[in-house]
Amino acid sequence: MICPPSPSNISQAAAIIRQGGLVAFPTETVYGLGADATSQQAVQQIFKVKRRPALNPLIVHLSNCQQLPEVADIERQPKTALRVEKLKIFWPGPLSLILPKRPCIAEAVTAGLDSVAVRIPNHPVALSFLAACKLPVAAPSANLSSAVSPTSAKHVEEVFGSLVHMILDGGACQIGLESTVLSLLDDKPQILRPGAVTKEQLNMALGEEVVLRAQAKGLQAGVYLSPGQALRHYAPKTKLAFLSDAPRQTLPARTGLISFSAVSAAGVQLDLAKVCVLSTNGDLNEVAAKLFAAIHELDKAGLDLILIDSCAEEGLGQAIMDRLRRACCTNSEL
Ligand code: TXA
Ligand code: MG
Repeated sequence: MICPPSPSNISQAAAIIRQGGLVAFPTETVYGLGADATSQQAVQQIFKVKRRPALNPLIVHLSNCQQLPEVADIERQPKTALRVEKLKIFWPGPLSLILPKRPCIAEAVTAGLDSVAVRIPNHPVALSFLAACKLPVAAPSANLSSAVSPTSAKHVEEVFGSLVHMILDGGACQIGLESTVLSLLDDKPQILRPGAVTKEQLNMALGEEVVLRAQAKGLQAGVYLSPGQALRHYAPKTKLAFLSDAPRQTLPARTGLISFSAVSAAGVQLDLAKVCVLSTNGDLNEVAAKLFAAIHELDKAGLDLILIDSCAEEGLGQAIMDRLRRACCTNSEL
């Protein structure tokens, strides 16, 4: 059930979590599907309803930095504590850190790994909810495994309905792409998933070079970047392909287009059944914020093919293109 984020609904949502139930909640990136991160049984329900492979670990959400030492061992290496201190400027915000884990985190959360992903989301409803839970909350994106992430409460309800005990409504997500995942386990910090906190921002904050782990481009199907970072991901039911890859002569009758700017849409000389322009002037922040909602919408429009724009892989463009490459068919699949 979709519920407005009133104080009484937030307390009820926290009570559901403390009793081992599931609550979907808004964050600034995408909606999360939360459960008590210290309860193996509660977390296993997330994997069940999402049909998520048990090998794909979850992100633990906190309401403040004081909780961090309870879930992660940041003192194991002196370098780690220092890096975390520098990165705290991004919290609350769209950055998840992979750190050595503490035993209180249930095994299922980390898929048996010795490390845990942690973040403090920057959304008032998420922060009030997490504070009321008084527990670390494990939450993947609230979509079926491999499908497009939800950026509204409605997206969550359409997929999970009553399987989730409560859906807190915090409106449309401001950022619209999942958090940057940064591993601090190795000698060099590594980005496992690009997001709204960019490589350039991380380099600057840390004062050292951050490595971007191999991207989907050039990878073979089945090769994992981080557990669960499968090549084919974020995919709608309708075929999605880059506009630049589309076979011009043999387009299906019902082809739709998601364009990043009005200029780019105007330049397309194709017979299109539906066109969606994400930003008049091609502002990538706006493109990211509206991207998943547009894919959800066109996926429901009875099209045979959805064509999509692309952008330069710099700054936020890196995260946008990472998600789209995983969601798109290759030329040979068209
Ligand atoms: O923005 C977000 O991060 C959203 C909101 C709800 O916070 N959550 C999200 O969760 O996107 P999910 O489960 O869809 O993605 C979690 C990512 C996966 O790619 C997973 O492999 C990686 O984090 N991950 C989690 N724990 C890890 C670990 N210990 N080592 C390496 N990767 C890890
Ligand atoms: Mg996800």
